[in-house]
Amino acid sequence: MKLVVGNQKAYLQKSEVINFIEKTKSELCKNAVICPSSLYMEYFKENSSYILGGQNVAMLDTGTATGEITAKQLKEMNAKYTIVGHSERRANQKEDSEMLVGKIKRLYENEITSILCVGEGREVKEQDSTKDFVGKQLIDVLDNLTKEEIASLVIAYEPVWAISTGGAPSVTPTNEEIADVVSYIKDLVNDKYEVSLKVLYGGSVNSKNIETLNEITQVDGYLIGGASVKPDEFNYIMEKCLQ
Ligand code: PGA
Repeated sequence: MKLVVGNQKAYLQKSEVINFIEKTKSELCKNAVICPSSLYMEYFKENSSYILGGQNVAMLDTGTATGEITAKQLKEMNAKYTIVGHSERRANQKEDSEMLVGKIKRLYENEITSILCVGEGREVKEQDSTKDFVGKQLIDVLDNLTKEEIASLVIAYEPVWAISTGGAPSVTPTNEEIADVVSYIKDLVNDKYEVSLKVLYGGSVNSKNIETLNEITQVDGYLIGGASVKPDEFNYIMEKCLQ
């Protein structure tokens, strides 16, 4: 079974959350992870059987952090996973490796699995430097974690140029490209840290490409943005991945 993680970003209003939960109710939800806007986490907790995840966490476990959400608070919401280092946050909130290390440590202390996102931008891809870039993103974080903390991670490979494109064939990587980078990530973590980790793919995963993506044996699951707020899309993806 693949690991299906929906990253609902800031897409939904409350009425749309209610509609999403209503229209995606099935046995399959018990095995799918949804990372809602933190405002709606409690609503998901009370009204759905999804496994819950956070979209971000504070680097420090302190009360004096206006606007932040701590790992302890996420744990209280029964979150089992939390996304760390999403490319939108790396770009917009200027999150660097040091901050990601802090976030992962706080999550580890609270028994929450970090989904650490890595992925290259368009320019890096065009220079054929994807592996160097992704390798550095990983090492910069993993070198500052204990072996136990590393072993608790899930990695999400999300090429930045493939995110939120709607998934036209020309803007998602080929299966071969994804398999190549995912294998590289797994080998690097295995060789350097002697740990074997799950690696997800993310970037315009949808109902049209999910069956093709499922052919990549190296990929352990998906981090899904846009398609995770559309009930029909998400139902279809859950059917193809979770049964
Ligand atoms: P997308 O987003 O599926 O809309 O491309 C993925 C993500 O940003 O995690």
